[in-house]
Amino acid sequence: MPDGGGGGGGVRIAPSVLSADLSRLAEQVEQVLAGGADWVHVDVMDGRFVPNLTFGANMIATLRGLTDKPIDVHLMVVEPERYLESFAAAGASVFTFHPEATVHVQRLLAVADLDLLLIMTVNPGFGGQTYLPASNDKIRRARDLLTAHGSRAFLEVDGGITSHTIATAHAAGADTFVAGHAIFTSGDPAREVRDLRRRCLVTV
Ligand code: DX5
Ligand code: ZN
Repeated sequence: MPDGGGGGGGVRIAPSVLSADLSRLAEQVEQVLAGGADWVHVDVMDGRFVPNLTFGANMIATLRGLTDKPIDVHLMVVEPERYLESFAAAGASVFTFHPEATVHVQRLLAVADLDLLLIMTVNPGFGGQTYLPASNDKIRRARDLLTAHGSRAFLEVDGGITSHTIATAHAAGADTFVAGHAIFTSGDPAREVRDLRRRCLVTV
């Protein structure tokens, strides 16, 4: 399991390239890395599990050519098991999938093997949505479950994470934060990554 959480407090910031300007992808990735991004998040959508189409193995391979940081691949697709091998070969480091997208979760994931638990904090499918306040309770319950099972899995939140929402998500127990819109529309992605991390550290 990749760590890559170099930034202190065990916090990982994972910019989502869904909101990057793809005409300058290399530059945008360089900017978030300069700001201390720990992982790069890739949203794979198939137009079936969610009503949107995005990236595949070629995006993962392109990002792998730009950074050695862990590439965090979020599978919003039906039958996610079909993609694991080719995406791993392309350079993916860690995967998340939605349990309802496969008929046999256990085949994909034995509970003891869980090393990253994702809580969606918006309805999946699009960037730039508003953080759902009910998420805080869900994060707290997920954190309690991980603790109760002695799991050291990372607890990731995804959707609507901004400098305003990240502190409560962190206080509720999340340690890994995906952010797309907030980072890539900010005008200064490096500064935004630093700011997101700082907002977590002040609540510790
Ligand atoms: C939404 C995706 C997110 C998205 C988050 O379905 O899973 O990763 O990029 O974007 P923001 O931070 O813009 O809500
Ligand atoms: Zn995502």
